[in-house]
Amino acid sequence: MSSPAQVFLVGTGPGDPDLLTVKAWRLLQNADVVVYDRLVSEAILEQIPAGVTRIYVGKKTGNHTLPQNEINQLLLKLAEGGHSIVRLKGGDPFVFGRGSEEALWLARHGIDFEIVPGITAASACTTYAGIPLTHRGLAQGVQIVTGHSQADVPLELDWQALADASKTIVIYMGLANIELISYRLMQAGLSANTPAAAIQNGTTAKQRRLISTLATLSDDVKQQQFTAPVIFVIGKVVNLASELDWFATEQAMGEYFADREQSQHG
Ligand SMILES: C[S@@+](CC[C@H](N)C(=O)[O-])C[C@H]1O[C@@H](n2cnc3c(N)ncnc32)[C@H](O)[C@@H]1O
Repeated sequence: MSSPAQVFLVGTGPGDPDLLTVKAWRLLQNADVVVYDRLVSEAILEQIPAGVTRIYVGKKTGNHTLPQNEINQLLLKLAEGGHSIVRLKGGDPFVFGRGSEEALWLARHGIDFEIVPGITAASACTTYAGIPLTHRGLAQGVQIVTGHSQADVPLELDWQALADASKTIVIYMGLANIELISYRLMQAGLSANTPAAAIQNGTTAKQRRLISTLATLSDDVKQQQFTAPVIFVIGKVVNLASELDWFATEQAMGEYFADREQSQHG
C-alpha cells in the first residue's frame, strides 16, 4: 500500500525488535532515510536494510542531545528533498517522546506525515518484568508521570493525587529524582511498605529488575547501580512479580533470545 506521507513518526517499543509493529517494520524496509535517537535499540537498528541512510540525532560531541529545533530543521530539509523518512523513536512517539512536537512542526510547515504508535515502556517493560499494570482487587487504574525536572528546578508533581493506593504509578525518567519522589509520596500518605520495582533496559537481553518497597527503593537502586533507561512501578501489583516472572526465567535458561535467533536464521 503506498502512502503520500513523506515523514513517518514511528514508535519502536522499548527494545525487543519482536515488539515492532508490522507497519513499523514495513516502513523501515521502504525508507530512504531513518532518523533515530538514543533509545532505539541496536537490535531494532539491525532491521534496517543495508543501503538506507541512517542519521543519529541522540547525542553529539560533548554528550548533549541534539537540540529539538535542529532535529526539526533536519526533518524539514529531508522532507523537502522528496525522501521517504522514518523518524524512529523508542516506545511510543506520543508518550514522553516529543512526537507531538515534531508532528506539529511538520503540520505547520505543510509536510505530510503519518504517526505509527509503538508499545510504550509502561506497558512493555512491566509486562516483561511480570508486573501487570492493573489487576482485579489490586489496582483500578494507572497513573503515568515523568520524574524528570530541568536542572536546578525541583520536581513538582501533584503528590496528593499520585499517592492513591488504588492505582499503579509508573514513573518515566525518574532515576535522578527517585529519592525525592519516594519521600514525597510517603509524605502524601502512601505507605512506606508499598511494593515498588525498578526495571532497567526492559524487554532486552540486558533487562534488570529490582523488587523493593517505597521506603527502600532509592537505596536499592543506588546500591545495585541501576543506570538509564529505568522505569519505576509503584503499587500492589508489584507483589505479583515473582509469580509472573516469565521473561527472567526464559532469559536465565538462555531460551528466549536463543530460540528466536534459531527461528530467524536456522
Ligand atoms: C524520553 S522517555 C521516552 C519514552 C518512550 N517514548 C516510551 O513511550 O516508552 C525515556 C524514558 O522511558 C523509559 N524507558 C524507555 N525505554 C525503556 C526500557 N527499555 N527500559 C526501561 N525504561 C525505559 C525510561 O524511563 C526512560 O528514561
